[in-house]
Amino acid sequence: MAEFTLPKNSVIKKGKAHAAPADAKRVKKFKIYRYDPDTGENPRYDNFEVDLDDCGPMVLDALIKIKSDVDPSLTFRRSCREGICGSCSMNMGGKNGLACTTAIEDISGEVQVTPLPHMAVVKDLVPDFTHFYAQYSSIQPWLKTETPTPSGKERLQSPEDRAKLDGLYECILCACCSTSCPSYWWNSDKFLGPAILLQAYRWLADSRDEHTGERLDELEDPFRLYRCHTIMNCANACPKGLNPAKAIAETKKMMVERQG
Ligand code: SF4
Ligand code: SF4
Ligand code: FES
Repeated sequence: MAEFTLPKNSVIKKGKAHAAPADAKRVKKFKIYRYDPDTGENPRYDNFEVDLDDCGPMVLDALIKIKSDVDPSLTFRRSCREGICGSCSMNMGGKNGLACTTAIEDISGEVQVTPLPHMAVVKDLVPDFTHFYAQYSSIQPWLKTETPTPSGKERLQSPEDRAKLDGLYECILCACCSTSCPSYWWNSDKFLGPAILLQAYRWLADSRDEHTGERLDELEDPFRLYRCHTIMNCANACPKGLNPAKAIAETKKMMVERQG
């Protein structure tokens, strides 16, 4: 259900077209969102034909090929190219995902590539994460303790307590979930969104953290937590197979339980 919606600044005009070499046999067309605020022009779509016999299998491979061979001004983020850093998140074929783990052959027909939906765009496929990171910082994503470390050593955790962090610690903060969440589209100024709420629960669920009450106080707000209406787009969008909606439900349960 993480269907395509246009980025915020999006009166789109027709752009340039770049053909594949004449002898190419497996040609795939990429329709890529372009926006450069320095030109003062409206965004546009450029079309690029790519010879799949001369390109790696993932959407990121095609973007790198286009940038190297055709248009060096094409701008996108990437680093690890193996689904670990979270920087290549974008919308491909109408679905949010990581360009480095999205196979070209899994998208039928033309491959439309745009920045993550409902984010301001810095340039081309690069969204502005400033607000998202400020929201992340607001949940104080680190272990908060009062008691001294036992015997000056590390804080131990039982295997059972450690297992409670599975499904949470793997989050790479790519924002595929938050930018597919309708509640976040319309209320991202106040609603923390699925990614940040999953991260918030990661610390609530940590047996070593001693600030659980304060963390819950911070979330107890009609917007910050309770704008989630369990639409579940977030779980469908997560490229790491995580379930932010479940983490949000667990947080709401903790709220109820502490009221007795
Ligand atoms: S379950 Fe909640 S957080 Fe997830 S997409 Fe729906 S409203 Fe957004
Ligand atoms: S929960 Fe999944 S989709 Fe959301 S930010 Fe983390 S890794 Fe990305
Ligand atoms: S480049 Fe790191 S997740 Fe895609």
